[in-house]
Amino acid sequence: MKKVKIAIFVSGGGTNLQAIIDYAEAGKIPHGELALVLSSSPDAYALTRAEMHGIPTEVVPRKMYDTQSKFEDAVCKVLEDNSIEMIVLAGFMTILSEDFVKKFPRRIINVHPSLIPAFCGKGFYGLKVHSAALEYGVKVTGATVHFVNEVPDGGEIILQKAVTVRKEETPESLQQNVMRHAEWIILPKATEMVAKMIAKGALTFEETE
Ligand code: GAR
Repeated sequence: MKKVKIAIFVSGGGTNLQAIIDYAEAGKIPHGELALVLSSSPDAYALTRAEMHGIPTEVVPRKMYDTQSKFEDAVCKVLEDNSIEMIVLAGFMTILSEDFVKKFPRRIINVHPSLIPAFCGKGFYGLKVHSAALEYGVKVTGATVHFVNEVPDGGEIILQKAVTVRKEETPESLQQNVMRHAEWIILPKATEMVAKMIAKGALTFEETE
C-alpha cells in the first residue's frame, strides 16, 4: 500500500505530535509515514520526542531569516529533499503565507484549540484562545482540525470535538482538558483521513470510502 510521506510542523512541547506518534505506532495510520518533524525553534521538546521514536528532524529557525519568504524557501527546500506530500501543523506557531499554502492545496492540516469559528484567526493561539473563551463565559469549547488555506483558521473543517468548561477553570487547566479530550483524539484521526485521501488520489473523504 502506498504510504504518504508526512511532515509534522512543531514549535513547542509536542504533545499533539506525541499523540500522532502513538496512533501511528498502534498501526492506525496505515496510509501515512511520519517522515519528518520540522521545528521553527531549536529548543522545542517536540524534537526530542521525534528523536526518541526514530523520526528524522529538521530545525528551520524563523529568527534566522529576515523575511517570511526566505524562511519559507528554506522550509520548501527541506520538504523537497524529504519528498514530503502532506503537512500536519501540530502547535506550529508561525503563520504560513498565502504563497506557501497555495503550493499544498488540501495537503496541510492544522489543529486549533477552539470550536472554529469561535476564538480563531489572527492573534488567537495557545493560551490566548482559552483565556478568551473563559472571558466570554462559554460553557462548551473544544478543538478543530481543518485544512489550511490563505485565511488563518479559515479552511474547510475536517473534525471537531466539544469539551465542557468546568467551574473554577483557568486558561491552563482548560488548555489541558481541550488537549486531552479533543486535540489528541481528532488530530491523529484526521491525519489518517487525509493521508488516505491523498494515497487514493481522491479529492474528498467520501471518495475514499
Ligand atoms: C495546542 O494546544 C495547539 O492546539 C495550539 O498550540 C498547542 C501546542 O501544544 N495551537 C494553536 O494555538 C495554533 N493556532 P503541543 O506542542 O503540546 O502540541
